[in-house]
Amino acid sequence: MVRLLPLALLFACQPAEEDEAVPLPTVWGLETLPDQDPAEDVVEVNLVATEGQATIDGIASTLWGYNSQVPGPLLQARVGDTVRVNFANGLSEPTTVHWHGLRIDNAMDGVPALQEPVQPGDSFTYEFVVPDSGTFWYHPHVRGHEQVERGLQGAMVIHEEEPLAYDVERYFVLDDILLDEDNRLAGGFDPVGGMTAMHGRLGNTLLFNGQLDPLQAEVAAATRERWRVVNTANARTLSIDVADAAWQVIAVDGTLLTEPWPGVGPIRLEVGRRYDLEVIPEAGAELQVVVPTTTGDAAYPAFQGALVGDGESPDFLFTRGPAPMAMDDVEQELTLTLDAANGQYGVEFMINGLRYGEGDAIPVDVDTPTRIVIEETTGLEHPFHLHGQFFRLVSRDGGGPFVPGSLDTLLVDGGERVELYTDFSNPGRWMAHCHILEHAETGMMTEFDVR
Ligand code: C2O
Ligand code: CU
Repeated sequence: MVRLLPLALLFACQPAEEDEAVPLPTVWGLETLPDQDPAEDVVEVNLVATEGQATIDGIASTLWGYNSQVPGPLLQARVGDTVRVNFANGLSEPTTVHWHGLRIDNAMDGVPALQEPVQPGDSFTYEFVVPDSGTFWYHPHVRGHEQVERGLQGAMVIHEEEPLAYDVERYFVLDDILLDEDNRLAGGFDPVGGMTAMHGRLGNTLLFNGQLDPLQAEVAAATRERWRVVNTANARTLSIDVADAAWQVIAVDGTLLTEPWPGVGPIRLEVGRRYDLEVIPEAGAELQVVVPTTTGDAAYPAFQGALVGDGESPDFLFTRGPAPMAMDDVEQELTLTLDAANGQYGVEFMINGLRYGEGDAIPVDVDTPTRIVIEETTGLEHPFHLHGQFFRLVSRDGGGPFVPGSLDTLLVDGGERVELYTDFSNPGRWMAHCHILEHAETGMMTEFDVR
């Protein structure tokens, strides 16, 4: 990760106190937030959003980070734990923290509709019980297009009650940022006209846990690793592949799959999506980010494992997971039309003909089998994200892959009609939006009022 030099020292973080009795698995690649609460089922951490100066391989830019790190430190807990985050805003503008993918209490979701944004110099305590294990992440939900691009994005792992017995766990935050000719973070964040409004802010530089160079470590023969991967880019759909290893997908958006998904890459990693991969190093083990170019796909190594030791490769550890959310006979149905219009500053994106804030929250019944039909009408792709609930992909008519399991994010292709299923089991007001943050900013967001 990249460390920021503080522009001003506003808050001091407490040093770690006594560790809890049962340690969580170590996750390689990111620093873990120290747990300040000795109780075994409580994780209390201090998180501060800061502005700072970072030099990434000679590139000095003002970045914003959590605890002066880009990406932010890893928040780790165990399913069922109470998580308390003492958050302080050291930025010069308001912010919130949203826990992407967690089905937590509505009031703690970190969106401005439910929480007065935390003002500069103010603080807020997020406290919630984590109901699901899996791979998640956190980021602001105020001016996200600039705040996330500047570096406010952090990783979160909620371990299973009995963590799967992998020899090594690694977390990879994949990002794509836009640098100017002087190799500084380019300005012009706001999606006012032009390509940024149309396609979102597409970067020209990949970051792997905040680094330009591939991450490197030794990988041991005859072991099994669990790799957790997230795409935190503002707008760019990435694909990932694994070389020099046997691998399979064991979880999507946090949830363990009923059956593993065989490792045939590259697989599409839309913005916001997480995959957990089981990897058995063979000649080594390399995580690749695959980006389409005009002359074909280009594969960039994100992680390069150098093989040490020898020994027979074991079988895969993960063979079966829990059943996915049951799909019962549908009792309510809604259609979301993804559309766009020309506004004051150029193209603006909408849902059902309305920019966010122009309509009321869509009322839906809680605990009710629901079909959500998404109709894309602009010809552009949109990573659809639903807060606070899981959904399943029922059918799609575009060229995109069928994605198994319980999801919170799914890329809808241009012109596509997608059918999703959810049971809306978590009451409250929950956002649904395009995770191309510039599309969300111009209006492609809505809210469900689940009661
Ligand atoms: Cu990851 Cu509403 O966001
Ligand atoms: Cu979009």
